[in-house]
Amino acid sequence: MKTTKKIMVSGIQPTHKLTLGNYLGALKNWVKLQEEYQCYFFAVDLHAITTRQDPKELGNNTLFALATYLASGIDLNHATIFVQSHVRQHTELAWVLNCFTYMGELGRMTQYKDKSSRAGETIPVGLFTYPALMASDILLYQADLVPVGADQKQHLELTRDIAIRINNLYGPLFQVPEPYIPKIGARIMDLQNPEDKMSKSSSNEMGAIYLNDSPKEIEKKFKKAVTDSGSEITYSPDKPGIKNLIDIQSAITGKTPEELVLSYQGKMYGHLKIDTANLVTEELKPLQEKTQTYLKDKAELQNILRKGAEKAAEKAETTLRKVYSAVGFVPY
Ligand code: TRP
Repeated sequence: MKTTKKIMVSGIQPTHKLTLGNYLGALKNWVKLQEEYQCYFFAVDLHAITTRQDPKELGNNTLFALATYLASGIDLNHATIFVQSHVRQHTELAWVLNCFTYMGELGRMTQYKDKSSRAGETIPVGLFTYPALMASDILLYQADLVPVGADQKQHLELTRDIAIRINNLYGPLFQVPEPYIPKIGARIMDLQNPEDKMSKSSSNEMGAIYLNDSPKEIEKKFKKAVTDSGSEITYSPDKPGIKNLIDIQSAITGKTPEELVLSYQGKMYGHLKIDTANLVTEELKPLQEKTQTYLKDKAELQNILRKGAEKAAEKAETTLRKVYSAVGFVPY
């Protein structure tokens, strides 16, 4: 298939219901960028099982994630959306990449170090090789651009290193991708622990706003959000709780943090919390309604995902065949 557009690839782990962090940090940017690129967006269920998942929840969360992609405005004219495990080529290429990735490289990954230290004595091998699977997700589609949160930058650098290594050995098999780390929204932090990213797997439920939270839950979580000592509303790294609330407002309204700080002169933390809760509620309302509409028609959603997987597999297979041939596998 001929295309003049550059290729953009990204995925989200359906380990939980998606959060406000996923929406502001990832989805909103995908929607903004989608017209300029040929896009592949997926829910990475293969990555999700690197930590234990409840099978039923995993399935529900996967469909919820993809319905949310559509509800956010991902347009099927620009983007192919699918479930990672529906496209076999992801695991097939991952195996090959595993053979060109070094133990030392994987051992240096911050996310692995964090997650494995929490996993105790039984660390799944998949948690260790996770970045090779992510590299496969990206390199299969010859991605030019990969929008990710700041915490994924190291994985993307590794992906580039693996691509360059294999290209040097076998010729130009892979496009070497560039990361795209959005300035605003890239790091929406945990409301209870604003030094940590707001994450789907946050240990404290109060720390994350889930995209299906009710207005009441949203209000409660923002009211209880950890703020900092003092009372003046300023935007600075030594006030991570306040900074986070301003960042959330900024990502929603498009106003700069400086403008927002000015508008809060003489006001108190409580005002900022309530306003942020209201803004988030308003922002999520139409999204929640649309997501439910997509989820109600399961047959149609499955249909979209099947077509997406077929289209993705076509592109992925082209890359996989080139790689198999380059390493010397007999053609099939
Ligand atoms: N590892 C990413 C995360 O946890 C998710 C991911 C998997 C991804 N494969 C990807 C992101 C490919 C971008 C491209 O956020």
